[in-house]
Amino acid sequence: MQNYEDVLAEILIDAETLQARVRELGEQISKDYRDGNLLLICILRGGVPFMVDLSRHITSPHMMDFMAVTSYGAGRRESSGSARVTLDLQTDIRNKNVLLVEDIVDSGHTIASVLQLLETRQPLSLKVCALLDKPERREAHVPINYLGFSIPNKFVFGYGLDLDEYYRNLPFVGVVDLNKYKPSE
Ligand code: IMP
Ligand code: MG
Repeated sequence: MQNYEDVLAEILIDAETLQARVRELGEQISKDYRDGNLLLICILRGGVPFMVDLSRHITSPHMMDFMAVTSYGAGRRESSGSARVTLDLQTDIRNKNVLLVEDIVDSGHTIASVLQLLETRQPLSLKVCALLDKPERREAHVPINYLGFSIPNKFVFGYGLDLDEYYRNLPFVGVVDLNKYKPSE
């Protein structure tokens, strides 16, 4: 895989700006869920860095769980239609306040299918916290209750978001230069 500097067109959101916003979201969530009984659900793998950082700013007692989904009929970077659960939760969400934590809402299909599934398990409440939103790409209507940043329709990577599984570790969100990026075999 190439070094990230060789595929980076521009830094869209720098590390400091990201961390400041994550802190604000954590503070807001702490107020809204003062009573605890909160379960953060991270959608693997993109939501990991965001959820870990967010959690450190949430002062109300909370639990964490993880789930993984893949979208049907999806190209490598596009998602379409409904999603299939490949790793389910360990936690019984009945009577819990569930907050889904996602890296990005793009077409909206992933979150829409996860919400539909989790509703059937009768949580006390069910809300969405997304770091990024690409509103221009939306196909499925999904409520985003807590949002980090609304971004233009560009392919981004870093801070959980991958480019063919790489670069999730970067502390900023960058735009890919598709003329320079060479997908590995
Ligand atoms: P949706 O179902 O179209 O909303 O897809 C959301 C998923 O697609 C996200 O959880 C990401 O894994 C992936 N995705 C969408 N846009 C990007 C991007 O710009 N960079 C990296 N991954 C993306
Ligand atoms: Mg994802």
